[in-house]
Amino acid sequence: MASLKSSPAWKALEAHRKKTTGLHMRDLFADDKDRLKAMSVGLGGLFLDYSKNRVSAETYALLIDLAREADVEGWRGRMAAGEEINTTEGRPALHMALRDPGGPGGNEEIISARKAMERICRDVRDGKMTGATGKPFQAVVHIGTGGSHLGPAMVVRALEAYRDGPDIHFVSNVDGAQIAQVLDGVVPETTLFIAASKSFTTEETLTNARTAYAWLTESLGDGTVPAHFIAVTANAGAAGDFGIGENLILPLAEGVAGRFSVWSGVGLAASLAIGWENFEAMLSGAHDMDRHFLDTPLDANMPVILGLIGIWNIDFLGAEALAVLPYDQGLGLLPNYLRQLEMESNGKSIGRDGTVLEAGGAPIVFGEPGTGGQHAFYQAIHQGRRLIASDFIVPLRTHHPTGDHHQRLLANAFAQSEALMKGRPGDKQPPHRAFEGNRPSNTILMDQVDPFTLGQLIALYEHKVFVQAVIWGINPFDQWGVELSKELAAAILPEVQGENASRGHDSSTRGLIARARKAKEGKQP
Ligand code: F6P
Repeated sequence: MASLKSSPAWKALEAHRKKTTGLHMRDLFADDKDRLKAMSVGLGGLFLDYSKNRVSAETYALLIDLAREADVEGWRGRMAAGEEINTTEGRPALHMALRDPGGPGGNEEIISARKAMERICRDVRDGKMTGATGKPFQAVVHIGTGGSHLGPAMVVRALEAYRDGPDIHFVSNVDGAQIAQVLDGVVPETTLFIAASKSFTTEETLTNARTAYAWLTESLGDGTVPAHFIAVTANAGAAGDFGIGENLILPLAEGVAGRFSVWSGVGLAASLAIGWENFEAMLSGAHDMDRHFLDTPLDANMPVILGLIGIWNIDFLGAEALAVLPYDQGLGLLPNYLRQLEMESNGKSIGRDGTVLEAGGAPIVFGEPGTGGQHAFYQAIHQGRRLIASDFIVPLRTHHPTGDHHQRLLANAFAQSEALMKGRPGDKQPPHRAFEGNRPSNTILMDQVDPFTLGQLIALYEHKVFVQAVIWGINPFDQWGVELSKELAAAILPEVQGENASRGHDSSTRGLIARARKAKEGKQP
């Protein structure tokens, strides 16, 4: 790939940055009374205000040039056409197909998987599908990790107001404390397990699934497991070997990366909680964002704008971190979800052409729902030496209208972004009370957190990540960086268990293993 930094659009942006170093957002707002109108875009239940960024009309135009030069239009078309854009794994990126009502180009595999998922969803909720003793399911335990966990966990919590199905529990950690606690709270006869693992080789998930299997068998007897276990996987053979019935294995397309898979059978737990119609509404919201992303010119395209503003903040202003700040308790897992989406997709230093990246790469993503974060880490966002960009995600209506809580929540959200932008000049007060302001933020308003708007929001970030990947020259759909430690963990396990003497490790690792082994043997480490 030609050098990104020596491309005309990048060079123009770099020159522009030098020219505008002293620019303060206060002046941008003072100079243009209609700044919000010019720097906002709406779609359905979403409204993106990107006016509180250090971006002038000229910056914006240059960023659009960058997107054009990187051929974002061509790449989005190639993704939609199902081309093998995930080159290191030789796969397409099919997440948009999962929410296309017609299945793009009639992708039969995806259409029939969605039908099977709908059937299971309806049968479990209607009580047609029961446990081994004929009782309907009252609890669902979803076992999975990473992209096979965060999506349904985030959605179930976000759409709690829509839940009219069974209780949903999640087990993701190989730490036995988690599954022990979940199993303590459910009853074998009325509990359905979902083992979600694209590879069906993930240690955490298989260990937890085996524990659940043993717990069921111990209580209900041999042969009862097939009635209580569903698998979601691209490796049907391994799920079958595990003991899951063929008709309860929901296929997952190879071309769907875990962190883009909430729309597939991986989202089954969410559909069981909120019902198929609501789950379909979430798919429709995402599809709506897909159409917008594919059909709208770059300069009015919400994911493109969000991606470009991110690149400006990261590469030209030096923002190493992105705070995701939902002002909604139900969106409490959104920062974790987006952390995986951004950091596993774009947390790379080698480009899709195999060369070392010159710029970009995912920011460090963190956050928690407002207002808790305000009393914890916002200090650093307002006055810290490191520049942190923020995304405020603010539903205008609440499902919990308790007194004036929601208006207070909104006031806090808007105050934060105003303070970050304006600051408070230091001339009339001691230096420690001064705020320089000029700190970038986006505000995404949601009409309310409903299935459709949530679908739009998730897809917005998926495409934002894709746009950035295209410009930086990254393949966002692989995750080779997680492989090495998986291999090492498999080698260390028998050593921790004491079966083999540890060999070949550095002195630190060897010493840690020795201490763990002593602790296991009840000796003083
Ligand atoms: O952590 C790496 C990873 O491969 C993620 O990309 C993935 O979502 C997760 O593990 C779980 O993988 P699987 O669905 O194969 O169990």
